[in-house]
Amino acid sequence: MPLLTLANLPAPPLEVPAGRTVLAAIHAAGHAWWHACGAKGRCTTCRVRVLAGAEFLTPPTPAELRYRAAGRLGEAERLACQARVS
Ligand code: FES
Repeated sequence: MPLLTLANLPAPPLEVPAGRTVLAAIHAAGHAWWHACGAKGRCTTCRVRVLAGAEFLTPPTPAELRYRAAGRLGEAERLACQARVS
């Protein structure tokens, strides 16, 4: 099972079933994480910076591509509510 490491939380790597969003994995492990729009891809409060392993996430969604085009989401950033572990 894929492992997700959260560099800014004092937590061991999380085991994440394929298909689960990064946000759902964080919440399932009992950690709080901003998600102001309710995980609908309509804000950027759930943003994460991917330090390694981006190839193990699903491609950016249309919502993420819109935010990138608008300069509100960096190339190494993903919306945790949109990015799924593949
Ligand atoms: S929670 Fe709003 S974009 Fe992810």
